[in-house]
Amino acid sequence: MARKKIALIGGGQIGGVLAQLAALRELGDVVLFDIVEGLPQGKCLDIAEASPVDGFDVCLKGTNTYEDIAGSDVVIVTAGLPRKPGMSRDDLIDVNSKIMTSVAEGIKAHAPNSFVIVISNPLDAMVTLCQKVTGFPHNRVIGQAGVLDSARFKAFIAWELGVSVKDVNAMTLGGHGDDMVPLVRYASVNGIPVLELLERKYNDKAKAKEVMDAMVKRTRGAGGEVVALLKTGSAFYSPASSAIAMAESILRDQKRVLPTCAYLNGEFGVKGFYVGVPCVLGAGGVEQILQFELDAEEQAMMDKSVAAVKELVAILK
Ligand code: APR
Repeated sequence: MARKKIALIGGGQIGGVLAQLAALRELGDVVLFDIVEGLPQGKCLDIAEASPVDGFDVCLKGTNTYEDIAGSDVVIVTAGLPRKPGMSRDDLIDVNSKIMTSVAEGIKAHAPNSFVIVISNPLDAMVTLCQKVTGFPHNRVIGQAGVLDSARFKAFIAWELGVSVKDVNAMTLGGHGDDMVPLVRYASVNGIPVLELLERKYNDKAKAKEVMDAMVKRTRGAGGEVVALLKTGSAFYSPASSAIAMAESILRDQKRVLPTCAYLNGEFGVKGFYVGVPCVLGAGGVEQILQFELDAEEQAMMDKSVAAVKELVAILK
C-alpha cells in the first residue's frame, strides 16, 4: 500500500512544527508549501536530516508549486498572517481572506479528493471561506480550534489540581474567539467533576467557583497570553500538535471524538454555519457530530459565540 500523503500549506512557524510532527509520527510523506522561495525547502531538508537520529521513514519535500500537493490525503492550511500583540484574531480577516482564497483554489485544482484542516485565523471564517472556494463536501473541510482551546483548559485544570493532564477531560465549544464556551459542568478528572474537586480542595464553594471562573477566563484569552509574551507572532507548537491529532484520527481512522470546527445543520440550534462542536473524526472526515444537552446558561453562551461567528462570516460577504 502506498504511503499516505500530507500537504501543509504555509511553511511558517506552525507549518514547520506540523512537518516535524507528521514525520516523527510517520503519518505519511510530507509536502510543505509556501510562497517564500527556499523556506519550505530549507525546513524540509533540516527535518529530513534528523530522520537518521529520530528514525522516521518518510519523504519530506518543500515546494513553491501547487502541483506537488497532488494526491494528498490530508491538507493542513496555516497560510496567512498571525496576530501581533493587541490584535484580535478577527483583525486578520481582510488579509487572510485573500490568502485563503488563493490557497483554496490551489487545493481544489491539485488535491480535489483531500480532507482539509484549516488553522489560519480568524478560524471559523477561514474554514467557511475554504469550503466555499473548494466546493468540497462539508465533511471534508474542517477547522482546528477546539482541540487546542480544550487542551489549554485541560492544562490549567491539571496544574490547579496537581494531577496529570492525561486524567483531565474537558472541552470547549463554539467559535475560536473570546466568546468560546469552556464547558465547566462536563470538566472532570477521570469522571469526577472538577468543580467538586475544587470545592473539596478549598472547602469553600465560592472560592471554588472563583478559581474555575479564572480558568475559564484564562482559556478564552490563552492565545492572546502567548502572543503578548512572544511579541512577534502567535502560538505555534500547540496549534500544530492539535491539528496533527485531527489529521491522525482521519488518516488512521481512529474515530476520536475531537472538538472540531464543523458545518452544522441544526445541531446545537445552529444551521448553515461552521462552529466548534464534538465530532467523530475518521476515514470519512466528520463521521458524526455528537449532540448533547446544554443547560440554559451554556446554550446562552453558545448562542453568543455563534452570533460572533455569524458577524465575522458576514464580513466575508
Ligand atoms: N500561500 C501560501 N503561504 C502563504 C501565503 C499564500 N498565499 N501567504 C503567506 N503565506 C505563508 C507565509 O509566507 C508564512 O510562511 O504563510 C506562513 C505563515 O506563517 P507564520 O507567519 O509563521 O504564521 P504561523 O504562526 O504559522 O500562523 C499561521 O495560523 O494560528 C494561525 O493566526 C495564525 O493565521 C495565522 C496562521
